[in-house]
Amino acid sequence: MANKVENATNYIKARLGQGGPIDVALILGSGLGIMAEEIENPVVIPYDEIPHFPQSTVEGHKGQFVIGELQGKRVMAMQGRVHFYEGYPMAQVTFPVRIFQALGIKTLFLTNAAGGVNVDYLPGDLMIIKDHINFAFDNPLMGPNEETLGPRFPDTSRTYSKSLIKIARSSGKHLGMALKEGVYLFNTGPTYETPAEIRMARILGADAVGMSTVPEAIAAAHSGMKVMGISLITNMAAGILDQPLSHAEVVETADRVKQAFIQLVKLIVERMEGND
Ligand code: HPA
Repeated sequence: MANKVENATNYIKARLGQGGPIDVALILGSGLGIMAEEIENPVVIPYDEIPHFPQSTVEGHKGQFVIGELQGKRVMAMQGRVHFYEGYPMAQVTFPVRIFQALGIKTLFLTNAAGGVNVDYLPGDLMIIKDHINFAFDNPLMGPNEETLGPRFPDTSRTYSKSLIKIARSSGKHLGMALKEGVYLFNTGPTYETPAEIRMARILGADAVGMSTVPEAIAAAHSGMKVMGISLITNMAAGILDQPLSHAEVVETADRVKQAFIQLVKLIVERMEGND
């Protein structure tokens, strides 16, 4: 694995040429990829040019890195991510995080579209991820540990950076947004959940449910990166409303809220300090 990461990273470094260190890596979820268009002086690297890089197969996910400036920071955004439900092993799903680590990026900003499990939520809400539940019964760190990447038994009790959460809260306040804060539960997908599974998720302490983010957060915790996560609640999870779930609703809500979401992400990135 280390070799593959090195090959991929070397390719990206060659494409970037000279350029300072990258401050923040951004993973943009369903319908949120448009945020990458805000990045100035961009270098665009499609995933299919990068050695060993898993290809995203989801509609609406572009599949490229966009590297450039955002709010005075140097950022590397993923326009489209790789999901576990696409059939990739977890270690492949988290391959991009290993590239970020190899590039020396210290902060990972994760975004996703999620279903609202908490009945006080509404479609269109933005939720700061305070913690997660890995409900996939798999883990990207399974198998021999690569000591050069991180410890065998990493602490995940502080995966989501308290200082970054504070910045997110104050940014939300500044923008007049009533941000939610909650626990994200990761299901493998690609099925949306059953109503019984959502009742279970609520009993377990989940506020939102989705099919991404947790593998990347675990790999980032292993690598010692700081993590910030925001979920866009695109729909109420199964069984809460008397209506079927659909990808169309997810995309529609993401479309409706993306401008507010972009504003929030930009302000958080602007307010991040080197040592957050
Ligand atoms: N469940 C799982 N993943 C999701 C959902 C959901 O309701 N909405 C958006 N992604």
